[in-house]
Amino acid sequence: MLVLQGVTAGYGGTTVLRDVDLTVPDSSVVALLGPNGAGKTTLLRVASGLLAPWKGRLLIDGEDVTGRPPHELAGRGVCHVPEGRGVFPPLTVAQNLELFSPPGQERESRDRAVEAFPILGDRLNQVAGTMSGGQQQMLALARSYVTNPHVVLLDEVSMGLAPIIVDEIFEFLERMAKQGTALLLVEQYATKALAIADYVYILGRGSVTFAGDAAELEGEDVFQRYLGIDVAAVTS
Ligand SMILES: Nc1ncnc2c1ncn2[C@@H]1O[C@H](COP(=O)(O)OP(=O)(O)O)[C@@H](O)[C@H]1O
Ligand SMILES: [Mg+2]
Repeated sequence: MLVLQGVTAGYGGTTVLRDVDLTVPDSSVVALLGPNGAGKTTLLRVASGLLAPWKGRLLIDGEDVTGRPPHELAGRGVCHVPEGRGVFPPLTVAQNLELFSPPGQERESRDRAVEAFPILGDRLNQVAGTMSGGQQQMLALARSYVTNPHVVLLDEVSMGLAPIIVDEIFEFLERMAKQGTALLLVEQYATKALAIADYVYILGRGSVTFAGDAAELEGEDVFQRYLGIDVAAVTS
């Protein structure tokens, strides 16, 4: 279980997150929604140890890990798929997978990645940076998958991708969740995120404005009220 407790954080003199409480229970899907600039990416950076909070605590399974470096949190099963493509563009698909594979399990990791996204199997020797955006995102997700994470932090993984690719990515996320991996999902397609989420948090200007069961968030007024955005822009 990953918990942010009373987290205040920011950059330089700018406060971005204010007293944020958020829990990602084991084997659950948590959607984190909110308008641009609300602090969603910043929250994921705190959760993966990239950014130390000014106040508050980060807990993993009840243990205080505030201020621990990202590699240590990664070792505790926290995997961050950052905004943009989380791949090394000059390396091949196979090399990208090897980098994240547990030592000695390179072959198994590759097999699992290809099973998750068969297209990667045809592209093992291709330089990642020359693949399409969708294929690179699949590789980024496959890389997270082969680390056997307990919780995956996903930052707008469907951004800019064709609808058919987005569907494939969501099917994969759902499969990962069913296998028991917890997900903290920042997503512009709010409707898609809600469809697979157990819990939802909405951030507005760095504070939690809604926290509850995904089922509570139905109907258009929710989007208007909490997200302040056009419903047509977030549904697909
Ligand atoms: N590295 C940074 N340095 C200074 N300000 C930043 C930095 N990254 C983000 N911000 C600011 O923090 C606020 C929240 O950004 P972010 O967490 O990226 O929001 P979101 O992901 O919800 O769009 C924004 O006002 C943004 O301009
Ligand atoms: Mg962001």
